[in-house]
Amino acid sequence: MKKFTSVSDIENLQQIIKKALQIKENPLSETEKGKGKTIGLVFLNSSLRTRLSSQIAAQNLGLNVLTLNAAQEAWNLEFADGAVMDGNTVEHIKDAIEVLNQYCDIIAVRCFAGMKNKEDDVNESILSQFEKHAKVPVISLESATRHPLQSLADCITITENWNEERKPKVVLTWAPHIKPIAHAVGNSFTEWMQEMDVDFVITNPEGYDLDKNFTKDTTVIHNQEEAFKDADFIYVKNWSSFDDYAEMPEVKEDWMLTNEKLKNTNNAKVMHCLPVRRNLELSDEVMDGENSIIYQQAKNRIFSAQTVFSEILDEINSGK
Ligand code: CP
Repeated sequence: MKKFTSVSDIENLQQIIKKALQIKENPLSETEKGKGKTIGLVFLNSSLRTRLSSQIAAQNLGLNVLTLNAAQEAWNLEFADGAVMDGNTVEHIKDAIEVLNQYCDIIAVRCFAGMKNKEDDVNESILSQFEKHAKVPVISLESATRHPLQSLADCITITENWNEERKPKVVLTWAPHIKPIAHAVGNSFTEWMQEMDVDFVITNPEGYDLDKNFTKDTTVIHNQEEAFKDADFIYVKNWSSFDDYAEMPEVKEDWMLTNEKLKNTNNAKVMHCLPVRRNLELSDEVMDGENSIIYQQAKNRIFSAQTVFSEILDEINSGK
């Protein structure tokens, strides 16, 4: 694997999931693989799971880890090409990435959507700069449009929780929130489910359809109750409007996931990437109930990251 920013960087998803499950069985089986190499984890936005799981994964592989919480600890970055830097920005992103090239064998970056300019977000205005200027492999720790390490962890978790012959029905459901949230998790989960052997359905209120470049021919149902029928997995996530970018059109129905709604499913397992707003996106009873596999999902973030780092190290160590 030369880089990891979307599902298209993976040749064989089933093989990657199998490798991740082997790593989970024995996380310290490759402690020499990253010896003498350094991974830089650059966070332009907040994180709990991604930062800690990536650190554990890198340490399990013997990598040196540099973590930079850039928004709090680094110079104020300029992203615009050709900018006259006579304002608040102190260091251009090009220069920052070139310096990271001197220190790191792998650069991993978290760069959320700005949620102000649709074109900038759709075109990955920040991640694309890392891809352009980095001279070492780049890994996305969540970008404007995708969260691939989360999606791989989600695929691992679904695989662990499914042992029937038939395909599981997986439903991605929109949930309420108090502020505009980006589309990265919803887009990415959609993209990865399209590669999995599952029956996949998205349900969201009118006005909240995800970008059609991601949903493609996936069924989108605007009635949550109808979508939940016979579901084996329900993935809860909020996102703002894509068409009316970053707006929050009024929703009259109650979309919070409750135990009452789970009765309409095939005793569905409940997933969420976290952090979750309890009793807004889903109820306490769901979060703490026996159908929740949300903490298992969070644990699998380690093995998702470790699998990707291991694959990237294979490429580096082969000298290709
Ligand atoms: N799910 C996830 O990416 O969590 P963090 O934002 O805490 O990293």
